[in-house]
Parts: sequence; structure tokens; C-alpha cells
Amino acid sequence: MRRYTESFLYLLLLCESLCNNLISISFNSYSFMKLHYLFLPFMLALTQQTQAAPGDRHIIIETRQTALVIRVDTAQTPTIVHLGPKLRNAAEYALIPANGKRGEDYTGLYNSIYTPAGGRNLLEPAIQVTHADGNPSLDLKYVRHETQSMVGGAVQTNVYLKDPQYPFEVTLHYKAYPNEDVIEQWSTIRHTEKKSVFLHKYASANLYIPAEQYYLTHFHGDWANEMNPSEIPLTEGIKLLDTKLGTRADLFQPPSFLVAINQPAHEDRGEVIAGTLAWSGNYQLAFEVDPLHNLRLLAGINPFASAYTLAPGKAFMTPAFLFTYSTQGTGGASRSLHRWARKHRIPQGEGNRLTLLNNWEATYFDFNEEKLSALFKDGKKLGVDLFLLDDGWFGNKYPRNNDRAGLGDWQENIKKLPHGLGYLVKEAENAGIKFGIWLEPEMVSPKSELYEKHPDWVIKLPNRQEYYFRNQLVLDLSNPKVQDFVYGIVNDLLTKNPTLGYIKWDCNAVIYNAYSATNANQSHLYVDYVQGLYNVLERLRAKYPTLPMMLCSGGGGRVDYGALKYFTEYWPSDNTDGLERVFIQWNYSYFFPAIATCNHVTDWGKQSIKFRTDVAMMGKLGYDIVVSKLTEPELEFSQQALKTYERIKNVIWQGDQFRLASPYTSDIASTMYVSEGQDRAVWFSYLVKNRYKAGSAAPVKLKGLNPDKNYTIQELNVYPGTSSPINRNSMTYSGNYLMAIGVNPQVSARRESVVLEVTEVK
Ligand code: GLA
Repeated sequence: MRRYTESFLYLLLLCESLCNNLISISFNSYSFMKLHYLFLPFMLALTQQTQAAPGDRHIIIETRQTALVIRVDTAQTPTIVHLGPKLRNAAEYALIPANGKRGEDYTGLYNSIYTPAGGRNLLEPAIQVTHADGNPSLDLKYVRHETQSMVGGAVQTNVYLKDPQYPFEVTLHYKAYPNEDVIEQWSTIRHTEKKSVFLHKYASANLYIPAEQYYLTHFHGDWANEMNPSEIPLTEGIKLLDTKLGTRADLFQPPSFLVAINQPAHEDRGEVIAGTLAWSGNYQLAFEVDPLHNLRLLAGINPFASAYTLAPGKAFMTPAFLFTYSTQGTGGASRSLHRWARKHRIPQGEGNRLTLLNNWEATYFDFNEEKLSALFKDGKKLGVDLFLLDDGWFGNKYPRNNDRAGLGDWQENIKKLPHGLGYLVKEAENAGIKFGIWLEPEMVSPKSELYEKHPDWVIKLPNRQEYYFRNQLVLDLSNPKVQDFVYGIVNDLLTKNPTLGYIKWDCNAVIYNAYSATNANQSHLYVDYVQGLYNVLERLRAKYPTLPMMLCSGGGGRVDYGALKYFTEYWPSDNTDGLERVFIQWNYSYFFPAIATCNHVTDWGKQSIKFRTDVAMMGKLGYDIVVSKLTEPELEFSQQALKTYERIKNVIWQGDQFRLASPYTSDIASTMYVSEGQDRAVWFSYLVKNRYKAGSAAPVKLKGLNPDKNYTIQELNVYPGTSSPINRNSMTYSGNYLMAIGVNPQVSARRESVVLEVTEVK
């Protein structure tokens, strides 16, 4: 009997393969896969677990190293049976037991690919709806799936699901980037019921990970205190990470996290999933350890105050959830995300960036044409590419001389800038640098002409007292007229000043008293706001595809891959204290590449200008200082640093990042960037403790080099009047030695930051 069953199973699977129902989106040899079926019955006989039943089908989504496997049973219920390492032989995915097979799943839905609420489900749903007839249940059955090769090498799988009782459909999209090991996932919801359907919850992704232990690293903070990590073991129940702030949504926590499997996150070893939601508004990330002790992960827009009324025939598309699975710890995960972001997401991710001098901390609101002209010359003298004029240049009836007025009135203040922006652009260009400008176009000051003219454009409750965040309110971007206004502001600026070289786009307030004067559906406001913002950015990018734009939100209040589709770079924090930045940048670097990370040398902190410059070089270098106040050696050092940066920036921007020593567990922080050809690397180390004798006591092992190559090590950014002990004893080492034994960068209280260039000897 058993033999008979095995042969039957074998036959079935073989038939399936022929009918192409078992689809591998991998780059495996198909014939090898077929050959393997010969052995499948024996393997099935060997195992006691319940694998695929006769008639089950598998949808396999693979990257170079990872596989996400969906099993569709004969009742057409789609479940996730695997998220982890890609198997060499795709046929063996059929052997994977459902649910990690730890016990009884009463519903057969614990590992649903998109858990519907209201039916037999007992756990956190991915989707919850009320149908047009008032029925609050949903069932989602597999209908079909398809795969397509996309531009840039991605492979997209669309899985179509439908409720058997209602004309209600969900399509799950999985876009696999094979070379970068990243999977992007989102869903499209549509129906043709007689009237609208209410979507109460509509997640982007619903994943399932069976393991023994789960360690979640999440990040939290506040203004000037972004990205503090906490690693916690997940236990049964739900841990929620979310925001309800609307705008500046990541002020307290970003939509990015790490889950380490079976052991706490390690930089080089072990399984880690790095995930992030590409959405600049309210999000919810749920980590539910289910009754079988498996991890259910649900990521999407926050259902809080956001029930969506979906009309028949219309489609609702959720934002994308992005994740990578690594068997090489957090280092492997972040290198994959960096590569993906540079290649597929961030505008000009593999292109150039401009160094700049910003005037915010140099002048705050207090400047005029004369002062600015002098700063242009200072920027040129320093050696940067661009001058960035920050807040305070606009508003006439209510001049922007402090943060209590003027937002929304985007006309040059005639007292400060009588000759207008065009004149400043030319003046900067005459001085030999480009000119860029700060905008906060989503916001309005209560004291502004815009507010007086269009009170109905402002998000506020009609019967409640206004409540301000940084003395300002948020414009209602769910209103198409407001979208046109915001687009018009930026477009006018760029039309009048075609050589304007840069925009810093700020967003300093959260949404209080959420209410739209024009939106027919108040519970659409949070979602429509973000979609409205993306509409504006989409239009701007279509017209100005190469304009460098910085994403800022009072620091890192909006750092996500939804917005970073439009911005070339982001501002991680207003906190530019060199020591603080070592930590802040360290944590952002788990998710975002150096080329997009704007680091400015400012007067914050007690560290030397060398320390602050060395830290700022681990990304996109800029300045926000009074150049004329620098001492002679400080200026000389900075000028030289900019020249060095020009030479090494591509290694930092495009190289693979390897974290060597963590500031959380060591006296030093140490990290390096290695070029793709493994012929160049830049290695940064900083003292982060101030106890007696704190420093790098032992050699630090390098990573990512070629063991068979030979390298020299040269210290960069040596401060004028000092000499480098490393350069004095210049040596050649094999990559093997550098990675097995290492070299001591000699960080100490006398050498608080050390930048080393590692170059292949050819
Ligand atoms: C925010 C930004 C700063 C600066 C000010 C200007 O706080 O993060 O960099 O632009 O606004 O008001």
C-alpha cells in the first residue's frame, strides 16, 4: 500500500513537472530537476513528516541564495512552506513539512500567504474586509499565477487569489532580484461587488518562518536621537512596531528591522532577515509567534484610522515590503540591501553626488545677499561642489525670520534677498559652485498668506483648537489642488532657475487633529496623503529625473524606501555630533547605503574637526560650518580631506560595507568599504569610549578582501603637523593575513579617529 502511494505521488509530481505546474523561477537546470524525481519516492519513504500531498503545487520564488516557497493544496489554499536558503534541487521543496510540523494547526491558515479575517482564521490577519452586503468574512483561494522577467534582471511572480463566494480578488506580487538577494512584495486588491467594500486591514506582506528562536532588532528614538537599537527575543504573542504620526512618521521608530533566527544577530554568522516597508506614512509591523512557535510576520500600512472604501472596479495597491534573507549575519543582509538600493531603487544610486556647504548652522535665519555671497566664496575655498541655502529665504507679509511664520509663502524675502534667487544662483556660479535650496513644501505656518487664503488646504479639525508641531501645520496632500500647489512651487523654482543644482526637501511636523476639509472619506486621509505626496514626487521626477534631492524630516523622520525612490540621499539626523553620528550612521547602515547617507561636518560635539570629518566621510560628505572661523590647520586639513574624498568616494559609495568592531561592544567602532574588484578598500576606526587606556588594543581583522592578493595600508586624513605611525612603517600584507590576523589601526586617546586606505599591490 505504502509502495503504491509512493509511486502514485511520484507519478503525480512528474506529471506536474511536465505540466509546468511546479514552477521554478530559479536558474537551476530544469533537466536536473526532472532527474531528481527518480529519487523522490525513496526520499518520501524515508521521512515520517507530511510533505506535499498528492495534487499539491508549489510556487517557488528564488534569488541567488534565498527561496520563498508557496504550497497550494487541492483545496486551493495557498500557504508558505519555506522562507530560507534556496535548495539546490527545487523538487525537494515538495518534501518540506507544512508549518514546521510542530503540532496541530486548527485552521490550516497559520502559514497562509495572506491571512484573511472573518472566517476560520484565529490569528492576526493580513486582510480584513466588510463586503458590500455587510458580510465581514473573507476566504482567499488560489486561482493562478504567472511569472515575468522584468527589466534590470528581476523576476516577478503574481499570485492571483479569489474569494469563492464574492467577486473579490487579491493579487500578491513578489518581485525577486536574484543577484541582490532581495524580494519586494506587495498586493493589489480589487472587486466587482455591487457597492463599495470596506478594507479594514490590507497588509503588504504576510510571511512565515518556523524556527526555535527569534531575535528582533528594532530601532527607536526621537529628534536628534535616531536609530537606537534594541534586540529582544520574541515570545508567543504579538510584538507591534508602528507609527500613527502621519507625516514625519518615523520620528519615534522607522519601518526597518532585523530578525535573527535561532541566535542573536551576529555581524558575520547566522540567519538574519532584514526587512523594511517602503511607505512614508503610518505603518504597522507585526511579529506574531503563533501557537506552533512559528513566526508570522505581517507588514503594511497601519490599519489605525485608515479603513479604506474601495469602489467596484477600482484597484487598491499596497506599498512594497522589502526583505533579504542572509546566512551571513547582519553584514550579509545589509550588503544585499545596499546593492539592491543602489542598482534598483535610489535615483542615480550608482552615479555621482555633490559635496556641499550648508548655511543652516552657520547663519540660521539670519542672512542677506552679502553674507551669502561671502559663503559662496568660502564654499569654493573649502573645495565643495555646491552651496545649499537653508530655511529662512522666503515670506514677505510674514517673513521667515524664525520658525513661527512664513511656511507656505515661497517667495523670496525682499529684505534679505532683494535681487531674488536668480541672482544668488548666478553669484554662486560666478564664485565657481552650484546653488541648491531648502524647501518644506508640505507645510504651512498659521502665520502665512497661504493659510489666510486657503484654510481648507490645512489638516485640522474644524471644532478643535489647533495644536502645533514646530509651530506649523501640515497641508492636506490628499487634496489634488494641494498636490498641484506643491508641484507648482518646486516646478516654478526650477523653471525660473534652470541651473538650480539641489533641493533639500524637509518635513518637520507630524499630523495632529487629522481631518481633511475636502476628502469625502476621513479614514482615507493618512493613506491618500502619502499617495498624494508620491504623485507630486512622481511628476517632479518625470520632469527632473537627475536633480539631486535630499530627503529630510527634521533629521531622520522619514527614511524609507518609498520616499527613496525619488530622493538621491537622506538626512539621517540633525544630531551631527561626531561621536553620536558613529552610532546613528552605524544603525542606518543596516538598511541604507553610504552613497545616500548625508553626513555634514558641523560644530556639534566636542570632537576635533578631524574626527567629525572622518565620520562624515562614511557617506556623502558635506559641511555646515563657518569656514572663515576655521584655523589655518583646520582649513588646510578640510581642503585636503575633500581632495582625498574625491579620490576615494567611489569605494565608499559603491563598495561593500563590512562592519569590523561594534561601538556597542568595543572601545572602538570600525568599518570598511571594499571595492567590487577587491583592489581597494577604505577603513574607518573611531574611539568611542573615554576610559583610561581605551583604544584598539589588538589587531582588527579585516573582511571582504581577496586572500590571494597583496595590499599596502596607508593612513589618510593625517592632521597637519602630526605624523602617522602606520605610514612610518609602511608594510605589505596578504589579504589572507589581513583577514586572519589583522592590523591594529592604533586608535587611542591621542588618535581618536583613523582612516586607512587599503590598496592592492599590482
Ligand atoms: C530641520 C532640518 C534642519 C534644518 C531646519 C531648518 O530641522 O532637519 O537641517 O533644515 O529644519 O528649519
